[in-house]
Amino acid sequence: MKKGLFITFEGADGSGKTTQLNNIKTFLNEKGFDVVVTREPGSLELGQKIRNILLHYDGVVADRCEIFLFLADRAQHVETFIKPAIDEGKIVLCDRHTDSTIAYQGYGREQDIELLKSLNEIAVNGLKPDLTMLFDVSTETAQQRVGNEKDRMESIGIEFHRKVRNGYLELLKENPDRIKLINANNSIETVFEDAKKIIIDLINRN
Ligand code: TMP
Repeated sequence: MKKGLFITFEGADGSGKTTQLNNIKTFLNEKGFDVVVTREPGSLELGQKIRNILLHYDGVVADRCEIFLFLADRAQHVETFIKPAIDEGKIVLCDRHTDSTIAYQGYGREQDIELLKSLNEIAVNGLKPDLTMLFDVSTETAQQRVGNEKDRMESIGIEFHRKVRNGYLELLKENPDRIKLINANNSIETVFEDAKKIIIDLINRN
């Protein structure tokens, strides 16, 4: 493997993707790979401040303000963390990235999807994931897993989250080479086995 890899983990709140990301990190570390774990929004100091607004601000947040906050976080994250790590040959596992904006702000908030794609392009400045794992789970199961302590995005309501799930499935249809579907209704063990196979396949191809 000459340069690093960029792998994104996507799915609904309550899909279990963060647990799987950590399992995959351990698995890859045991195989001797240099792995870093990160997330959007909020991996670095500035990003954490943006994350705090996005998830915990209790006043009105206009839809377009929300978009720009997610994008501001992403631009900073790509430039100062993700690209340098890939250039150093690391495998970067990122909890959410551009597809979250299309699924949540595009499909969920019903903002202009083509415009969001262009704005994402500006934020990532040419970076594209080598692989995106989509952890798909029924909206009812996801909501149960989230429980009662919800942040600002999780509190939006079940209809919003249904639209988000549908958005992810549309993205899957549009990007069959990059995005791989994992049935996250299954047990943690089964989901981990499925995720491992996909990662191993990617590594073998690089
Ligand atoms: P999480 O870290 O628990 O996944 O929370 C991040 C929340 O922000 C989650 O509800 C998804 C949402 N989100 C967006 O709406 N748009 C985005 O672009 C990103 C990265 C996250």
